[in-house]
Amino acid sequence: MSSDRIALCEPLFAGNEWTYVKECLDTAWVSSGGAYVGAFEQKIAAFVGVPHAVATVNGTSAIHVALLAAGVERGDEVLVSSMTFIAPANAIAYIGAFPIFVDADPHTWQMDPALVVAFLRDECEWRPQGTFNRRTGRRIGAIVPVHILGQPVDLDPILAAAAEAGIPVVEDATESLGASYKGTAIGTIGVSGCLSFNGNKLITTGGGGMVVTRDETVARRVRHLTTQAKMSRDEYQHDEVGFNYRLTNIQAAIGVAQAERLPAYIAAKRRSAAIYDSAFADLDGVCPMPRPIHSESVSWLYTVEISGDTTGARGLQAYLASRGIETRPLWEPMHMSRAHRGAQALGGNVAAALYRNCLSLPSSVGLTDTQRARVVETIRTYLAANNVKSRIE
Ligand SMILES: Cc1ncc(COP(=O)(O)O)c(C=O)c1O
Repeated sequence: MSSDRIALCEPLFAGNEWTYVKECLDTAWVSSGGAYVGAFEQKIAAFVGVPHAVATVNGTSAIHVALLAAGVERGDEVLVSSMTFIAPANAIAYIGAFPIFVDADPHTWQMDPALVVAFLRDECEWRPQGTFNRRTGRRIGAIVPVHILGQPVDLDPILAAAAEAGIPVVEDATESLGASYKGTAIGTIGVSGCLSFNGNKLITTGGGGMVVTRDETVARRVRHLTTQAKMSRDEYQHDEVGFNYRLTNIQAAIGVAQAERLPAYIAAKRRSAAIYDSAFADLDGVCPMPRPIHSESVSWLYTVEISGDTTGARGLQAYLASRGIETRPLWEPMHMSRAHRGAQALGGNVAAALYRNCLSLPSSVGLTDTQRARVVETIRTYLAANNVKSRIE
């Protein structure tokens, strides 16, 4: 990589990664049987404050098995955020279940709790087998709030409505390790929470994921499903069709080293977000992502909404790219995605607007003050050339 290019979000390996991986190779414990897998699970479980964690090959597989362990079945429907990376919607489809996409709240950019509450109250009916969508006759198997960009969904109204309707909540916390909602770690509030250790996440194992839960039965079921539903250590006997979804020891070794740096990485993300916030405070054309109240965000990817008389987020993205600065728009909302054509959607205009107008800025934990200042200056130059005024001029 050229030294003056600024990446969107790259990993930082500055701790014990080499030492621990070397130990795996030296001892030939490279697959999922090694001791680092359990050590990584324990470290993350302790960090978020739950008794159980099961490491998986990636975040998508974590969501897949978490949904199965929550009791989602083929033919069910699952409420999920529309403004998200596609993985949770795909995980729902892997089961043969149907996603119902919930629009974002304009004040938080996260799943809009009011839409969930209204849907369960006005469009569903309770039967002895569960809560059913009147329009399709299908059972609602779960709700998956996706905590995007390092910030929490407003969970309380969703949890209350879900409890009343007897529906489990599975949190997609893949982007929000380190964030908390009213003092409790994201991912530990629903029946289970799913994490990702992809290369761009807060900490990485190259590829990896985890299901965290307070519920021992759920943890046992996830462990079983992720190990090909093998019934005992010594015999090759299986009681159902399972998955080869366990993380390897080499990846977990990297994970343990990365987890040792979690507090420092979270502090770096928060500091970076605070500097960006104050740098844009006087600029009319740039609106930083809202910080939900009662919550501690981790600002995994610092994202801004671009407004005013410019060529918009895509124009700014192209300008920054021409100057060696990598940025990224938000995801095409799931209700607009060809991959999930025909799915029911609750609203959708807010997510569509965020998709049009938002841009995620360089947010690596190792981003230097000089690099961040260059990002800010380049944005200011672009906006000035497009007649966007400073608020205090
Ligand atoms: C919201 C969301 N859910 C799920 C995933 C899936 O994680 P993975 O890439 O580890 O499968 C990701 C990111 O990659 C994500 O951003």
